[in-house]
Amino acid sequence: MALLFHTTPARLPIWQKLFAEAGEPFIAGEDAVTDPAEVTAIACWTPPDLSRYPNLRLVLSVGAGVDHLPALPQGVALARTLAPGIEAMVRDWVVMATLMLHRDMPLYIDQAGRGEWRTHPVRLSTSRRVGIMGMGRIGGLVAGSLQALGFDVAGLSRTGSTGTVPMFAASQRDAFLARSDLLICLLPLTPETRGILNAETLAKLPAGAGLIHAGRGAHLDAQALRAALDAGHLSAAMLDVTDPEPLPTEHWIWSDPRIIVTPHIAAQTDALEGARHALTVMQALRQGAPIPGLVDQARGY
Ligand code: GLV
Repeated sequence: MALLFHTTPARLPIWQKLFAEAGEPFIAGEDAVTDPAEVTAIACWTPPDLSRYPNLRLVLSVGAGVDHLPALPQGVALARTLAPGIEAMVRDWVVMATLMLHRDMPLYIDQAGRGEWRTHPVRLSTSRRVGIMGMGRIGGLVAGSLQALGFDVAGLSRTGSTGTVPMFAASQRDAFLARSDLLICLLPLTPETRGILNAETLAKLPAGAGLIHAGRGAHLDAQALRAALDAGHLSAAMLDVTDPEPLPTEHWIWSDPRIIVTPHIAAQTDALEGARHALTVMQALRQGAPIPGLVDQARGY
């Protein structure tokens, strides 16, 4: 019963040390596999050929998302990495992006490129309504931080369950969109959420709204975004995710002054936090205890 490490080599020494200290069996990459039957779990972003491992019980995504993984063989569990660092990093990126759109930074960056000193009216954060799609662990953290900055925050959740922020249920989606001056997408990518940021959704936002997207590229219909920007209905967008990734050099998004793109860097799993989570997962697997970060594979998150 061992974990096969199949991720960024730079993380290996940290994982190896932690597993050795805990006395937990660890295989440092596929080249180190002597008996494939020993592998019960694989930690990876891109998985190896899973059919090589007859006793595989679990695949652990080394990130927060799992949408990039193929359907797993029957009986193989799927877990994602729960790490406070991932959540804090995404929060930081989203708060930064929200402030950048709130304070018209795409406009000022564009003006600066021309050496143009021109002011625009400044709005109070309390007058800016922010809507968060995806009120999981990260959404909750983002909501709290933006509330602390004074923004008028609401969340959209499938269940509409109450939290520390006003929540809209799926059936109230139109009302939620109509009050989102800044729309933040933190949804997982599932068959239901694919393409959710489309022409119809964007049209329901208030005039002049901005989009902050740290979900997955395939949530967004980029042509619909362009049309909404061209029509003056949306003012700007900050994207950390695109479809495809990497975004090709010649793609129009790069040169559109109304859009700021970062190359999917909102979060990077800290090596030690990732290793700690993997260790907890392996210990739970051994003890038959609940697996932290277990994914409902039918639901997709
Ligand atoms: C990054 O997007 C992740 O899923 O960790």
